Amino acid sequence: MTDSGVRPYAGRRVLLGVSGGIASYKSAWLARLLMKAGAEVDVVLTRAATEFVGAITFEALTGRPVHTGLFDPGHALDHIKLAKAADAIVIAPATADLMARAATGQADDLLTAALLAAEAPVLLVPAMNDRMWAHAQTQANAEHLRTLGYTLLSPDDGMLAVGEGSGPGRMPEPETIFAHVGRLLEREGSLKGRNVLVTAGPTREPLDPVRFLSNYSSGKMGTAIAAAAWRRGADVTLVHGPLSIPLPVGVRHVPVQSTTEMRDAVAERIGSADAVVMSAAPADYQPATRAPGKLKKTGGDRTLELQETPDILVSTRDARKPGAVIVGFALETDDLLANARRKLEGKGLDMVVLNAANEPGAGFGVDTNRVTIVRRGSEPEQLPLMDKRKVAEEILDRMEALIGGR
Ligand code: CTP
Repeated sequence: MTDSGVRPYAGRRVLLGVSGGIASYKSAWLARLLMKAGAEVDVVLTRAATEFVGAITFEALTGRPVHTGLFDPGHALDHIKLAKAADAIVIAPATADLMARAATGQADDLLTAALLAAEAPVLLVPAMNDRMWAHAQTQANAEHLRTLGYTLLSPDDGMLAVGEGSGPGRMPEPETIFAHVGRLLEREGSLKGRNVLVTAGPTREPLDPVRFLSNYSSGKMGTAIAAAAWRRGADVTLVHGPLSIPLPVGVRHVPVQSTTEMRDAVAERIGSADAVVMSAAPADYQPATRAPGKLKKTGGDRTLELQETPDILVSTRDARKPGAVIVGFALETDDLLANARRKLEGKGLDMVVLNAANEPGAGFGVDTNRVTIVRRGSEPEQLPLMDKRKVAEEILDRMEALIGGR
């Protein structure tokens, strides 16, 4: 399945400004990510940027002409047209020079002129040598740009250009910038001011120092929900078991191992959550004892004694914030709807996201899911097979409607 059509990028127009820094090689990948998510990308290169990357690279990636000159014949009003058309503007990398010019309202090239003409939200991604970043002038420019309403990312601390060692000044990775552009595109921030608690992934129940019981959960559904809630402006905490996928940007991460640890981490935060989405697949059983040393082969079979772990959702019932919306999942192989309804009542939920464990393209590990939304007082709603990121948006739309109704 392709990425096309992912909210909030699909059909939105992003102006990608690239100024002349070595990090501009990463901006080609950012353009690619935006395109893959369904955005239309207009690239503006400063003259200095063309010393580092070629217009043809961006043209091939975006399928659109790349803009450079303010005074190119036939393009006299490009800065106005581009600024007007943009739903969001991102300048990556934003060099010290670009920041200085933007901070003082200069309009001596196409990019700075477009910035002045823009009404769309602007994200600046500074990247430069660490001493240039630390300079009081650059810091003052950064501060002033923030007061003008621009969003600025902090540079990463890491390897700079060759021979310059490492320090703060490195451009954040394209995936991080891409996520921030998403938050910019969700300008209304439909979950702004809301605390959202999400759980994701499996838990592990240790048997001895080298073995554990767990399940196939990848955490893809839960991390997609956390990422989407953050883009919509929420303050998101993600309590997650061991994951081997990238963690979402902007979200507070609380890593745990066992179901009991996950319960404790949730208990600490449940009282302030306006919405809770329990998409984790906590292990339901733990070994009755944990061997202090590695269990050795004995030449025969071994029987494991298992104890039930705590049910996290049930354990939160009396601690929930009044009016909080609680969403649970149900992973079933038989009697799907009846089991989902039982969980809705038994765990005190507002909504159950039901998926069939044995259906191709749905459930654990894969990038897609086919879910049925079960709520009190309405017919179950079956959604088609779709990318988990789209499923996340569908879940959040319904969750928001419930929040709005309280
Ligand atoms: N859940 C939980 N605590 C557990 C197990 C599950 O809070 N110890 C949550 C899951 O995160 C999910 C919901 O309960 O939101 C249903 O999980 P599921 O695995 O479908 O059901 P179980 O409660 O484990 O019941 P069963 O195994 O009998 O289907």
